[in-house]
Amino acid sequence: MLDIYKLGEDVLSEQTTKVTEFDSALKMLVDAMFETMDEAEGVGLAAPQVGVSKRLFVVDTHQNENERLCFINPEILETSPDLVHYEEGCLSIPGVYHDVERPSHVTVHAQDINGKAFTVKAEGLLARVIQHENDHLYGKLFIDRLEKDDRDLMVRLYERQEKNHGKGKKKRVRR
Ligand code: NI
Repeated sequence: MLDIYKLGEDVLSEQTTKVTEFDSALKMLVDAMFETMDEAEGVGLAAPQVGVSKRLFVVDTHQNENERLCFINPEILETSPDLVHYEEGCLSIPGVYHDVERPSHVTVHAQDINGKAFTVKAEGLLARVIQHENDHLYGKLFIDRLEKDDRDLMVRLYERQEKNHGKGKKKRVRR
């Protein structure tokens, strides 16, 4: 299990670098990312969220058997002109959700764990998660796609929730 970095940590707003070594260390990282994502009940997890500033993310939408995917050095080649609304959340901003508008379909080119190139045409939830995770590789969170007022509100909600969490923990320790 890896620690998930939360809103406010620098690594979440940094640009990532290309993966060049397809070695056992990379395989271990990807395995640990899948495990961490499963444990946190997420549908996607990008490397910066576990403190690694590299271009990769994992996805499992739990919709089809073959959707446990790892995208290394992904490039979004094409997005559909039609946009759809969907409520997003993020393991790095737990407890906060907001509607985000994005293209409904995407075509992504990436490498798999062995460095082999592949292309995926995605729609629905998979297209949504790919775009959300890909944003993480550019230091962008879903709240960065909202209007300023909405973004500020999301940050305040998150901070208030974290503060209350902290209080609760202290109380439990005292008892
Ligand atoms: Ni996220």
